[in-house]
Amino acid sequence: MFEYGIIVILAYLIGSIPSGLIIGKKFYGVDIRQHGSGNLGGTNTFRVLGVKAGLMVTIADILKGTLAASLPLYIQPDMHYLLAGIFAVIGHTYPIFAGFRGGKAVATSAGVLLWYAPLMFIILIIGFFICLYITKYVSLSSMFGGLVALIYSIFVQDIPLIIVVAILVSFVVYRHRANIKRIMDKTEPKVKWLG
Ligand code: G3P
Repeated sequence: MFEYGIIVILAYLIGSIPSGLIIGKKFYGVDIRQHGSGNLGGTNTFRVLGVKAGLMVTIADILKGTLAASLPLYIQPDMHYLLAGIFAVIGHTYPIFAGFRGGKAVATSAGVLLWYAPLMFIILIIGFFICLYITKYVSLSSMFGGLVALIYSIFVQDIPLIIVVAILVSFVVYRHRANIKRIMDKTEPKVKWLG
């Protein structure tokens, strides 16, 4: 039981590392939460600080999920990777190190899948880029990538794990409420670098 608690706490703390805040402030002197969409994630970092910073934050956020999901392997192998990963996603979204104002759960959730089911991660990424190419909306593509991963999981996973993936995807959609409203109002910004 003690090991389970350690994993939960560590996973939450790893998820709580505010990559966007650290990279934005340390290298650019900018709090990205004061700019763009105000979101503490890779997309807003791309938008506010450019490709290099955006890539760094996105990769760091993915790796937080991957690292947290791998903790059971080293501490308590009976704990499911997805369960550990969920606590990193909670940390990323409500980070103790950044006033509980974090990201929208996309990159860290993807990182959890990268550890747990790499093929599901690849399918998510493919779904994301196909949607992005067609719609130019990152937010919509994030939700669509999650949906594609969920549909894939229905074919290859057991019911409890499908439910966990469904919870993650629902959480991602919940965190995109403002984006969904902007898409419907046609005020959501599109990416410019895709034609
Ligand atoms: O991963 C977050 C992305 O889907 C949307 O970010 O900054 O456009 O709200 P943003």
